[in-house]
Amino acid sequence: MFNLNELLRPNIRDLVPYSSARDEFKGEASVYLDANENSLGSPLLKWYNRYPDPLQMAVKEKLTNIKGVTPEHIFLGNGSDECIDVLIRAFCEPGMDNILIVPPTYGMYEVSAHINNVQIKKVPLTPDFQLDLPAMEEAVDDFTKIIFLCSPNNPTGNSLHRGAVEALLNNYFGLVVVDEAYINFSRQRSFLADLQDYPNLVVLQTLSKAWGLAALRVGMAFGSKEIIDVMNKVKPPYNINQASQELVLKALDEVEQVNEMIRVLVEERGRLERELPSLAIVQKVYPSDANFLLVKVRDAKKIYQYLLDKGIVVRDRSSVVLCADCLRITVGTEKENSELIEALKQYQ
Ligand SMILES: Cc1ncc(COP(=O)(O)O)c(C=O)c1O
Repeated sequence: MFNLNELLRPNIRDLVPYSSARDEFKGEASVYLDANENSLGSPLLKWYNRYPDPLQMAVKEKLTNIKGVTPEHIFLGNGSDECIDVLIRAFCEPGMDNILIVPPTYGMYEVSAHINNVQIKKVPLTPDFQLDLPAMEEAVDDFTKIIFLCSPNNPTGNSLHRGAVEALLNNYFGLVVVDEAYINFSRQRSFLADLQDYPNLVVLQTLSKAWGLAALRVGMAFGSKEIIDVMNKVKPPYNINQASQELVLKALDEVEQVNEMIRVLVEERGRLERELPSLAIVQKVYPSDANFLLVKVRDAKKIYQYLLDKGIVVRDRSSVVLCADCLRITVGTEKENSELIEALKQYQ
């Protein structure tokens, strides 16, 4: 059975978290002399001299309206990269525990584990980029604390079959993290609606992709109240800065604008999916549920360099497992996509 207290690192279970000035006093006062801030102001038109809300409650309340998940089930990180790091730090004992990843996948699960001196077990996806459940079952041991899944997956673009993810959630009693950074571009249903059914499920999403706010660095983790409490205990006290919180609050009012951007990007993705395969150098365009396409070409390294010389930068993924001769191409504006196609047409 899933038991959060057994899964946690003992030092984190027993941790007395830092109590910040803004944790200890939350109301309104006329004189703030509790946090060693600069009471005179900031050298800017708008002042940022006061520490922000450590738990970002205003942002979480707005997210509740959009995601249908209440604030106690939401953790905000400085990008979902921070969510990944906080999960590994909270649950994996350095030098002892391990995480399981399913390459090719997003690189930060592995890097975060390395930074924390946590071992990594790798079970490659099948050739059609799906989970190899028997191999995963074999790889998991008593020290496997977290399985990281990414759906839609970066860099392959496809979604993982829901039934396979559910099989893991039902049969594996560590944490199953489903990274849904690209879910807004997908035809598949989010796992957010399944949080109540699975105490071991953590869903990651981000404002960096469909929401167009990568520079503000705001990522989200959704999970049981117990898991979110642990993550809040481990994070640095003021991990989301005031300017980001304010701008995110404004952006979250613009759901319709974001939906329109998603519509345009999905349409452009369709155009690239239709037009790229007709080019002589393109061998395969993999189906995508994300805002990028994995494209197998005749000589990825040469084409990567050729595009770069033309001022077009794509991602060379050709040295990644199962991605030989593949480029990962983000869907751009209509004009950018046309430039890309034109450049590839001219390649000799
Ligand atoms: C699958 C996946 N997860 C997480 C991230 C990181 O997102 P953030 O900007 O929220 O840190 C990325 C960024 O490319 C990603 O592809």
